[in-house]
Amino acid sequence: MAVTIDLSGKSAIVTGSGRGIGRETALLLAQAGARLTIADLDEANAQNVAAEIRATGGKAIAVKTDVTRAEDAQAMARAALDVHGRVDILVNNAARWTTKLFKDLTPQDYDADIRVTLYGALNCSRAVLDAMTEQKYGRIVNLISDAGRIGEPYLTVYSAAKGGVAAFTKALAKEVGRFNITVNGIAPGITNTPGAQGFIEGAGGAEKLAKAYPLRRLAEPIDIANVILFLASDMSAYMTGQIFSVSGGYSTVG
Ligand SMILES: NC(=O)c1ccc[n+]([C@@H]2O[C@H](COP(=O)([O-])OP(=O)(O)OC[C@H]3O[C@@H](n4cnc5c(N)ncnc54)[C@H](O)[C@@H]3O)[C@@H](O)[C@H]2O)c1
Repeated sequence: MAVTIDLSGKSAIVTGSGRGIGRETALLLAQAGARLTIADLDEANAQNVAAEIRATGGKAIAVKTDVTRAEDAQAMARAALDVHGRVDILVNNAARWTTKLFKDLTPQDYDADIRVTLYGALNCSRAVLDAMTEQKYGRIVNLISDAGRIGEPYLTVYSAAKGGVAAFTKALAKEVGRFNITVNGIAPGITNTPGAQGFIEGAGGAEKLAKAYPLRRLAEPIDIANVILFLASDMSAYMTGQIFSVSGGYSTVG
């Protein structure tokens, strides 16, 4: 008998799912049977992804959400509960980064990067916790980055924000495990998304960067989405507070 990951009956929110890794994740979770809430600042992209899921027979709503605003995060969770009846899975994927030397970053740059990347994960996690606690089931998956574990030049503040999300992942896992809620993190290597194009080009292109990767290629969004699916499912039921690099072997942090 084939082994399948079945998320039918589950409701999933993916933030920043209008494009890139978030979009690919939303499509994959929907393919596994989950009902989706596509939450993004870019409403047109969010609507397109929701329509794409519905066109293939899935269930999805789009909710314009600015994850930096606690009230938007609450409204996002309420919309998921109203339409889908529950919230089983939250993927904290939305993030923002400014690629500059630290000495050239303004306080406005780092305020904005930290607000989306760190506060966004806090706001959205807090918004779903009551529902997950009540139903005694939850899977929270946080997009981190090895920048937050080993540090990345030109991405100092983003590294700091992702380091914060990594610590939050471990701490929250310890608080909510008793309610059958798991909290895990994924640290992707450089992934071919719209958001990463500037960084890839600035560093000399994908081919040059891939030489530093044992698997000799950068990630495609599906490489990351596959591992998110695993962490969002019951295949990972006994894992919590863990962070996994999905980086073609680039970093081998424990
Ligand atoms: N692409 C990479 O190389 C890479 C590497 C390591 C980690 N990551 C992480 O993976 C995640 C996805 O990255 P990506 O490359 O797909 O990003 P991307 O820039 O391509 O897409 C990000 C999405 O988030 C949305 N967003 C931005 N600010 C928002 C806000 N305030 N509220 C709601 N939505 C908002 C954007 O509209 C966009 O749709 C991020 O957490 C990122 O830090 C990416």
